Parts: sequence; structure tokens; C-alpha cells
Amino acid sequence: MKPQAAPSRAPAPAEALTGVRTLAELNAIISAADPNVPGGTRAVLGEGPLHPALAFVGEQPGDQEDLQGRPFVGPAGELLTRAMADAGIRREASYVTNSVKHFKFEQRGKRRLHQKPTAGEVSHYRWWLKRELEIVAPKLVVALGATAVLALAGKALPVTKLRGAFRFDGVLGYITVHPSYLLRIPDAAAKRAAYDAFVADLKAARVLANRGPAHRAERSGGRDAPPRRSAQPTGARGGGRGTP
Ligand code: URA
Repeated sequence: MKPQAAPSRAPAPAEALTGVRTLAELNAIISAADPNVPGGTRAVLGEGPLHPALAFVGEQPGDQEDLQGRPFVGPAGELLTRAMADAGIRREASYVTNSVKHFKFEQRGKRRLHQKPTAGEVSHYRWWLKRELEIVAPKLVVALGATAVLALAGKALPVTKLRGAFRFDGVLGYITVHPSYLLRIPDAAAKRAAYDAFVADLKAARVLANRGPAHRAERSGGRDAPPRRSAQPTGARGGGRGTP
């Protein structure tokens, strides 16, 4: 079965959201809006405390997230939660959200197959994410994978090359891979190395967030001088969901 046609009602642009002061107000708007991607049944909102050290931004909810109405609760979410714990980060003390708030999928028999959101779809949802992060005001935003980088930076940037500390529109950030990418690496040793590198990224992000404003790098819209670890993503590469 083909997915439903993408509805016409787009998320509100930035100006329409400037009067929105609280997360409850913003979430009410997001929940009431039609999905801007084919598939999407309900909006999956971000969750976590205001003013956390870290906010994590993923791509979009998956099948489990859509069913449960919570971000990162499926296989990628389990991996993210484990990596956070291994990096000394409490998930419940962090804010977790997505670039696109609805699950974009194609129905094939009983299965709902994840579809990568287009750049246009990501940019429609971007205003919500921007306002959301202004209200949540984390010390540092972790971009998980290429779609989050696109949403936060407003343009496509190479994750592998820029992996590390980064500023998004003046906001302290950190670019790393998406946990789904790790799940798709077939070779066990490569998968383990990629997982270790991911945990090292999360640790570096935690340290950077806890250093406070005085230690934040000054460059805007570019890469900071990050605490680095050596490994780069290894294993499965290519387009679609396997892309970091
Ligand atoms: N992948 C994401 O990017 N977000 C989720 O919430 C789940 C999987």
C-alpha cells in the first residue's frame, strides 16, 4: 500500500512561533498540526527537563516511537540509552528529541518501512525544533547523524568530516553519528569500534557541556577545537539509513 499523500499544512515558520513561550504551548501546536511527511500518524514530542546539560537531536521517530509516542524507544533508542550510560550521561537528565516530529514510512504489507525525510521536509520542521531548543535551552546540543545536522545547521554538512564540537547558529553543539548507523554495521569488530567511538563522542560532549560558557569556543557556524578521540565511523556506508 502506498503511503498517504503528504498533507499541505506545514509547520509554522519562525515568525509565527516567536509568541510561543512555553514547551507546553509549542507542543500543543505540534500535536495539533497535520504531519508534513507521508505516513506519520501522530507527533512524537521531545522529552526531558528544561535547561539540561545536553539535548540530543535525532532524525525522526521510528515505528516503535510512533506506536509508543516517545522519542528513541526502539532499537536505536536502546543503543543510544546504553551509550549515554556508558558515557556517564543520565538519559532522564537530558532532553531527547527529533528533527522531524512524525514517522515517515511506506506501508509494505504489515510492515511500515522507514523513509528518509527530504531536505524540504526537514526544513518545514526546522522552525519547531529551533523554538523547542530555544525554550529547552540546553548547554550543548548533540546532533545525531546527517538529518539532525541538516536541521540544526540549515544546510547539509558532512558528518564524518565534521564529527566533533561544532556551533549551530551560535549554539554550542556536537556532531556525531546516528545510532541506527551503528546497528547496521555487519562486522562485529567494526561495530564494537564504532560503538566505542560513539561513546567517546558522548563523553566529549558531556565534558564540553559541563565546562560552561567561559570555555565555549568562539567560532560561529564552524568547528570548534574539540576534545578528540581517534576513531572515525567504520563499517557500513552508503546512502539511506546507513549514512551516519
Ligand atoms: N531514530 C531517530 O532519529 N529518532 C527516534 O526517536 C528513533 C529512531
